[in-house]
Amino acid sequence: MTINYSDRIPNNVDLGSNRTLQRALEHWQPEFLKWWEELGPKDFQVADVYLRTATSVDAKGWATYGYVRMPEYRWGIFLNERDPNRRIGFGDNFGQEVWQQVPGEYRATLRRLIVTQGDTEPASVEQQRMLGHTAPSLYDLRNLFQVNVEEGRHLWAMVYLLHAYFGRDGREEAEELLERHSGDADKPRILGTFNEPIRDWLSFFMFTYFTDRDGKFQLKSLAESSFDPLARTCQFMLTEEAHHMFVGDTGINRVVRRTLEVMHELNTDDPQVIRNAGAIDLPTVQRYLNFWFTSSLDLFGSETSSNAASYFANGLKGRPDEAQYEDHIAVEQAYTLELPDGSGGTKSEQIPMRNAMNEVTRSSYVRDCEIGVKRWNRVIEKAGHSFRLALPSTRFRRSIGNWAGVPTTPEGVPMSAEQFTEHKQAWLPSESDQTFILSLMHGVHQPGKMAAWIAPPDRGINNNPVDYEYVKLH
Ligand SMILES: [Fe+2]
Ligand SMILES: [Fe+2]
Repeated sequence: MTINYSDRIPNNVDLGSNRTLQRALEHWQPEFLKWWEELGPKDFQVADVYLRTATSVDAKGWATYGYVRMPEYRWGIFLNERDPNRRIGFGDNFGQEVWQQVPGEYRATLRRLIVTQGDTEPASVEQQRMLGHTAPSLYDLRNLFQVNVEEGRHLWAMVYLLHAYFGRDGREEAEELLERHSGDADKPRILGTFNEPIRDWLSFFMFTYFTDRDGKFQLKSLAESSFDPLARTCQFMLTEEAHHMFVGDTGINRVVRRTLEVMHELNTDDPQVIRNAGAIDLPTVQRYLNFWFTSSLDLFGSETSSNAASYFANGLKGRPDEAQYEDHIAVEQAYTLELPDGSGGTKSEQIPMRNAMNEVTRSSYVRDCEIGVKRWNRVIEKAGHSFRLALPSTRFRRSIGNWAGVPTTPEGVPMSAEQFTEHKQAWLPSESDQTFILSLMHGVHQPGKMAAWIAPPDRGINNNPVDYEYVKLH
């Protein structure tokens, strides 16, 4: 399934054979480019960026690398190959043939799921649009832009589905995806987290580690969908998404490494002394982690959800890696939730498994988040320090679900609102933390040079050296 790059819109869906669809998408294309120019990375549209572009959907050798000006990036439509034997993997229709068209009764729901996913993609580009100016190196600048162009492509992926399978409503939704904007007072993005601007690179790394990973789990759920074109679209998006989380994982790792170097050089773990030396003390890293992890937890929705139950029953959205479960019907199982009892304690409650699907997915997500934390802690341990980073409890600082607005310690022990306010400074980024982090943000744009608060990466991109000129500024 090679990708056709001779069409105006690169694709592997034989777009040329459907003139109406092709024309509709070619009509949307200039609107997308206009959006990119207005709300994509600010001031770097003429830079030559060393980017990867998808050339095939094979796991091996699926991309090529080369200098591209971002507005000339070949955004296209790439779906994983169709498996003619694929069957519905869960829910009431388990074992039946998957759908190549949208069943009428699920039309509105599927459209909503696709629009909600699609909305996050351009939203993150908008949130990150100012970061280019303060990139800690050309290597990081390139990675930011790689993430940005691929989020743009993920928008294309969802817009293709809307155009191809949802007729006129789909086309209107596609237009609205370019009309809502992150943080816009009148037309904000659909999900809360995606309306917060990302002003600094510590937040960017936390976002790509924690929030892009939420994206990974949403895509994994949709990759199980009985609506086959959606499943195949999401499977290929996951290939691209992996790099985004790599950027976050290694970014946080490099911040920690640099901090440890400074701690070693100055023989101190005093946060103020470390800050004076231009590095980020580990308690501050922990506070940013607390903030971004918890805000990403909310994206999975409520612990108990009748919507999640019906998505599962109808085969629209499954559990990530559904094949790992033994029972794909999940109608006779229960799930035990630990909920606030309303008087400062907790109580257990059993709910039907299908209603707990958000929580099931959230738990897989938390386990996946742990992997990076362990890796960062190994670096700290090796350097001989007892400090450890940790994920807070899923009860901590929640805005959605049963724990919303219930004050707890990071370990999840309920406490009074007064106690919480008293400790908040130690647990979440304060205004002075943010001022400090922002004070470190200065663009470093010479090849191979790094800002003082971050260690260089272990290796460059695509076997190039770290000091390669990843972005040619003009
Ligand atoms: Fe994405
Ligand atoms: Fe992403």
